[in-house]
Amino acid sequence: MIIETGGIKLDFSGLEGVLEPGAMAALSGRVTKVAASLEKGSCDGSEFLGWLDLPDRITGDEIAAIEASAARAREDADSYVVVGIGGSYLGTRAVLEALGGPAAGYPEIIFAGTGLCSATLDRVLKRVNEEEFRVCVISKSGTTLEPAVAFRLLRRALERKYGRVGAAARITAVTDASRGALRGLAEAEGFETYVIPDDVGGRFSVLTPVGLVPLAVAGVDIRGLVAGAKAMRAACQSDDLAANPAHAYAAARHLLYEKGFSTEIMSTFHGDLQMLQEWWKQLFGESEGKGGQGIFPASTVFTTDLHSLGQYIQDGRRNLQETFLCVDRAVAGLTVPGDDPDNLDGLNYLGGKSLDAINHMAFLGTKQAHLAGGVPCTSIEVEALSAETVGGLLYMFEKAVAVSGLLLGVNPFDQPGVETYKKEMFRLLGKN
Ligand code: PA5
Repeated sequence: MIIETGGIKLDFSGLEGVLEPGAMAALSGRVTKVAASLEKGSCDGSEFLGWLDLPDRITGDEIAAIEASAARAREDADSYVVVGIGGSYLGTRAVLEALGGPAAGYPEIIFAGTGLCSATLDRVLKRVNEEEFRVCVISKSGTTLEPAVAFRLLRRALERKYGRVGAAARITAVTDASRGALRGLAEAEGFETYVIPDDVGGRFSVLTPVGLVPLAVAGVDIRGLVAGAKAMRAACQSDDLAANPAHAYAAARHLLYEKGFSTEIMSTFHGDLQMLQEWWKQLFGESEGKGGQGIFPASTVFTTDLHSLGQYIQDGRRNLQETFLCVDRAVAGLTVPGDDPDNLDGLNYLGGKSLDAINHMAFLGTKQAHLAGGVPCTSIEVEALSAETVGGLLYMFEKAVAVSGLLLGVNPFDQPGVETYKKEMFRLLGKN
């Protein structure tokens, strides 16, 4: 089965030897039922369904306001520090890197508050000291320790450089409308603020100001991003499993899970998609890993990891399913010179071939090898990375994880397990 929409092609033919003929069609009724429970708002976790029609609800005025504020931020900043963790930064970083980083002449985006490593934060603090900078602090709860600590230090750095009032004018806070310490601080100090809607969970929030504000500062075409997501939402509403990319992907991985393929590796041949893999891992891991259930999401970047994890994937424990995420055209003009008179490196047989074409052959060869090794493979091929295709991918995976989690019988929209480490850490730190 192959499904193509908006420059994205899903190929399920690699599952034919593993899934019984008709298995996908047999699951289709259940998929339609859980998808209907999402649309009706009757599923578990229905208080967090704001992401579902978000691409249709974002107005031109909201986008224009974000673009105008981003343009002001660009005027006086060489770098823009995004402070946030988990769903409050992964989507932004995923989109930014997939699209090749900030547009020329736009501020460098620096991420902070993604952990508690002193060396990492120290590097950021030293760097911004030398530059004109702004800070965008993002936290839905407004109380998460990692970004809160980084923000306190960055705010001090801003205040030393620009004074208290000047610093406040360089801070944007994206947080809950009324709850949390960050909301109180933002109001007391007069920061620019944006609201994260109550009904959108962190890992589903990339198309809210959480992602749109910093991406606009970096010059990303956020209108294209939303348009791609909107077109994908339309494609993902079909009740025909064979025409619905999110439903088909959710069904396929669920059927494989039931057969014991309990780890899904997302493998890419495109280094710029590494952070999109990280975003996907959070989305799927946090949504599905509950009650002793869930597919463990892992990732590899090929061909690099073929020289490290390739052995295990080819020949190790057979509980792996693999989803390839490929890009057909990256830099079309980069070709191997074919005119080496001595041909001492023996590469003249590749002369005139583009790196993209060679990489594509590596993908086809790897897929063939992994299939032969007993790894069921699905592939998702993107014609070219653009704001539209990346927006489409984001929405497709969000819809897929919602359907997939509901097929498993878990609430895909909560993350009770994340609290456990916090409780232990705060006890050790003496928080009351
Ligand atoms: O998806 C989630 O809800 C989490 O990963 C959060 O995004 C993460 O824990 C950060 O939370 P907050 O935005 O409240 O600081």
